Amino acid sequence: MNIIITGGSSGIGLETAKVLSENKEINIIVTGRNETALKKVSDYSPYHNIIPLITDFTTLASNSESILKFVRKYFDKIDILINNAGYLYARKFDETDEKEARLMMEINFFVPAMLIRLFLPLFHRGSHIVNISSMGGYQGSQKFPGLSYYSASKAAIACLTECLATELIDREIYVNCIAPGSVQTEMFDRAFPGQKANLSAEEMGKFLAWFAINGHRYFNGKIIPVAMVSP
Ligand SMILES: NC(=O)c1ccc[n+]([C@@H]2O[C@H](COP(=O)([O-])OP(=O)(O)OC[C@H]3O[C@@H](n4cnc5c(N)ncnc54)[C@H](OP(=O)(O)O)[C@@H]3O)[C@@H](O)[C@H]2O)c1
Repeated sequence: MNIIITGGSSGIGLETAKVLSENKEINIIVTGRNETALKKVSDYSPYHNIIPLITDFTTLASNSESILKFVRKYFDKIDILINNAGYLYARKFDETDEKEARLMMEINFFVPAMLIRLFLPLFHRGSHIVNISSMGGYQGSQKFPGLSYYSASKAAIACLTECLATELIDREIYVNCIAPGSVQTEMFDRAFPGQKANLSAEEMGKFLAWFAINGHRYFNGKIIPVAMVSP
């Protein structure tokens, strides 16, 4: 089985990669910018089945062909894509500068959308695309100050999930979206210093690894909140 996890150098993506790599039948391409961290992730895998791809997604539009080439070198098909890489810059709405606002929309919405398009030729009947949103992007949850652009970008990827599940159903490519509540990761610690999240990255990684492999048998086009409280 061939899996791509974006943003696997830390947090949820890293823990998901670790769980999946315990199965020697699985090969995983893990992306990130941090070369040292990615090297550590690939060294972790007992079966040497984690392949690091160092890339900065702010330049995806200009280097998508080289990413596709890299993926094709290892994978002739993709069974699972976990669009996990994300960016959060917590600031009140009127204090968020335009550059940061656009970067959140780029990394949290346009990049996952572009990757899905890029990899379409490699998906097949039964492939599963898992987009990572957030409870902030989930309709009806309590919103927190400072996360307006972030939450809006996460709502965009959640909505795209529903739309794509419809468009790709004829090809039996399944698309779901996980909306986590708070998870103790570097991103969470940076945004909310000193606060305790409801789930550890390890717990979330275990769930996400299970969901990526099994979720498409139960869900398609769904936005699934994974939260211990109801923020
Ligand atoms: N933690 C939470 O409470 C929480 C709650 C809801 C949703 N989420 C979502 O869960 C996902 C994982 O977040 P996390 O909490 O695990 O945070 P994290 O530890 O900060 O991980 C974020 C990942 O995204 C990658 N990334 C960020 N910007 C990138 C860029 N420009 N190019 C390439 N890769 C980039 C980072 O890799 P490099 O630094 O190596 O580039 C890193 O691997 C995100 O989509 C986040 O929005 C998190």
